[in-house]
Amino acid sequence: MSNILFVCLGNICRSPAAEAYFRHHVQTRGLDHAFSIDSAGTGGWHAGEPADARMRSAARKRGVHIESKSRQIASSDADADLIVVMDEANHKDVTDLPWIDASRVRCLLEFHPEASRTEVPDPYYDGAEAFDLVLDLVDTATCALLDYLEERGLD
Ligand code: 4NP
Repeated sequence: MSNILFVCLGNICRSPAAEAYFRHHVQTRGLDHAFSIDSAGTGGWHAGEPADARMRSAARKRGVHIESKSRQIASSDADADLIVVMDEANHKDVTDLPWIDASRVRCLLEFHPEASRTEVPDPYYDGAEAFDLVLDLVDTATCALLDYLEERGLD
């Protein structure tokens, strides 16, 4: 089983969306048995809260349900096989943690086949289009991430 952890800053917008979309693609391909999927934030301000209502609503309109509760990344996450971050600041914050193996940390958009950007932009202070852009990026990139993991061979 592969243990995949998606990480952003607050764990209420981008990484919950990535977690839900990755799980959606995994379930569509009948691969539930092969993955443990979770998300976390580098910050803990929203710990215990559900994902941002705007993010949940935008995803629900596309048939994807975001059900995670926010939590901060912890030393117990050291056993993740792959930690997928949303932007460069997340990458620095995660790889600065002493218990993290930096070789297991990747940016989500590395897997996007066409993205002209390298970071999933934080939608928190923006309008509805920003949330839709996150979902477009996350949908395509998590599908491509799953292609990559399948090609590499699942445990
Ligand atoms: P996220 O977005 O990192 O995609 O969950 C944010 C949510 C909340 C805050 C920042 C980013 N915040 O500062 O509270």
